[in-house]
Amino acid sequence: MKLSHAIMFMLGDSKGMRTSLENISQAYQGHKAEGYFNCCYSFTLEETGEYKRAETHGRRALELAPDDAWGLHAITHIFDMTGRAKEGLAWIEGKEAAWQHCNNFRYHVWWHIALMHLDLKNFDKVLELYDEDIRKDKTDDYRDISNATSVLLRLEFEGVDVGNRWQELSDLASSRTDDNCVAFADLHYMMAFCGNFDEKPATELLSNMQSAESRHHNELASIIHKPGVLAATGLEAFRDHDFALAHDCLTKARPTLQAIGGSHAQRDVFERLAIESALRGGLTPEAKHLLQERDLHRGHKDGYSESRWRAIEINSHTNSQGSGAQQIAGVAAKNIA
Ligand SMILES: [Fe+2]
Repeated sequence: MKLSHAIMFMLGDSKGMRTSLENISQAYQGHKAEGYFNCCYSFTLEETGEYKRAETHGRRALELAPDDAWGLHAITHIFDMTGRAKEGLAWIEGKEAAWQHCNNFRYHVWWHIALMHLDLKNFDKVLELYDEDIRKDKTDDYRDISNATSVLLRLEFEGVDVGNRWQELSDLASSRTDDNCVAFADLHYMMAFCGNFDEKPATELLSNMQSAESRHHNELASIIHKPGVLAATGLEAFRDHDFALAHDCLTKARPTLQAIGGSHAQRDVFERLAIESALRGGLTPEAKHLLQERDLHRGHKDGYSESRWRAIEINSHTNSQGSGAQQIAGVAAKNIA
C-alpha cells in the first residue's frame, strides 16, 4: 500500500494514488495499520482538492497513528493549500516527536514549517530554519536539494537576500547534470544553477534534458522532454530577466507540469515563477489569470496571492507599468531575478 502510494506520488498521479487506496480500504478497517492507511488517504484527498474531507480523515487517522510523520505532513499540506499558515504553525507546535526521528523526510517537514513562516513574512525565521534544520546536513539527495532550492527561490521572490546559500546547492547539483531520471529533480538542479548564476552546468543539464527522450526511450524521459525542457528554459529565461520568454515557457509547461511528480505545494514554486514572470514582464492580464487559477485551485487566498493582488491594484492606480507590482512584492532584481 505504501509503496504504491509513494510510486504514484513520484509520478504526480494523484488520482491514481487516491483510487489505489479506495480499492483496498475495506481491508484496512479494523486493521492495526488503519491509522497509517488513513494518513495516506488524507494526503490523496488533499492532492485531489478535497481539503475538508482530507482534514477530517487526517486528524482522525493521527489519533490512531500519532507517530506517523507522513500523516502529520498531510495535514501541513492542507494548511498550505487553504492559506492557514498561522493556524498551521499553532497546530504543529509541540509535535516534533512525530517526525524528528525520521530520515531526511524530517527536512521536508521543516520545509513545510518554513513555508508557513514565509507566508506570514517571517523571513528571518525562514532563514533560521533553512540553516539549522532544512540544510542542517549538506546532503545531495535530490529531495533535500529540492526543499532547499525552492525555499530560496520563494524567498528571493519576496526580495530577501539569501546570501551565498545557492553556492553549495549548485556545487552538489553540478555532478548530476546527466541524471535525467526524474524531471522534478532535474528542474530543481536547474534552479540551483540559475540561483548561483552557474552557466556551464545549466547549459549541460538543459542539453541533456533535450536529448533524454532520444537516449532513454522511456516514460520518465518523455516527461523530461515535455514539460521538463519548457520549465527549465523558463527558469533560465527568468534568470536572464527575459520575463516574456519565461512566462511563455512556463505557461506552456503548466498544463502538464503535474507529470514531473511531487505535490501541489512543491510544484507551487513553478506557479509562482510564472506569476512573477508575468508581473515583472508587465503582463498584468496574464498575471491576473494565473493568480485567479491558483486561488481557485486552492480554494483560499494565501499571503502570496494577497500581496500580488495588492501589487496589481496599486499598479493599476499608479498607471505605471510594473512599478506597483515591484513596490508590494519587494522584488529584488538580483540573484535569480
Ligand atoms: Fe510535502
